[in-house]
Amino acid sequence: MRTPVFAANWKMHKSGLDAVAWVREFEALTKDLGAEAVDVIVAPPFTAIAAAVEASHGSGIAIAGQNLHFERQGAFTGEVSAEMLKAAGAEFVIIGHSERRQLFGETDDSVQRKVTAAHAAGLIPIVCVGETLDERERGDTLTVLDRQVRAGLDGCTGDRIAALILAYEPVWAIGTGKNATAAEAGEAHTHLRRRLREWFGGVHADRCRIVYGGSVKPDNIQQLIGLEDVDGGLVGGASLNADSFVSIVQKATAQQAR
Ligand code: PGA
Repeated sequence: MRTPVFAANWKMHKSGLDAVAWVREFEALTKDLGAEAVDVIVAPPFTAIAAAVEASHGSGIAIAGQNLHFERQGAFTGEVSAEMLKAAGAEFVIIGHSERRQLFGETDDSVQRKVTAAHAAGLIPIVCVGETLDERERGDTLTVLDRQVRAGLDGCTGDRIAALILAYEPVWAIGTGKNATAAEAGEAHTHLRRRLREWFGGVHADRCRIVYGGSVKPDNIQQLIGLEDVDGGLVGGASLNADSFVSIVQKATAQQAR
């Protein structure tokens, strides 16, 4: 059994003070729920990580970076290393988000280097893959996913595959309000699991959590989380408000309990 995991990707939103307020609201909304069998991760901007780590002690929330540089240190103005994230208290890091790939020139090669750097520092990567609308319309979705997974996870051991989180995020669904249908998400997730089995072995592939991202909302999470190979969500817009994020997590856990 894989424990479902929900990650809030705040992107370039929220200060340290905002992060503290969000965590307090999250705690208030979830205090009567008991220990849910679900993992919760929050990825604030770099400047809010320390405040989020401090505020989330004892709340069950783990903190993630949204990106990292693959070098350990050096003359890389504006960059943050895996060790720095780890020292600030982060446990996870998002790597290869489509906004990084599309707006900041990230490639499968840089994703691979970042995954290696994250592992070396003891961070767990949340590796994002997904096709553009053009690629989907050309019928290339599964080929693109193969390339991104093969290249991005090159060199990972089976144990590391088992521990990391793979996020299927169709680029056309991110921030557009248009989520993948259950059939589209199901096809991609099942394909990803099959490839992980082929490339890294069944035992490890079956432990790896594959989450869906792209316009996840309280009213569409149940159709997605009901799918066999969907183990949670990476939530952007709907995570900015603690109330809607908690509602997503609650609806998903209710669906899974059925
Ligand atoms: P969205 O973003 O939920 O706003 O579509 C998801 C993501 O970019 O991770």
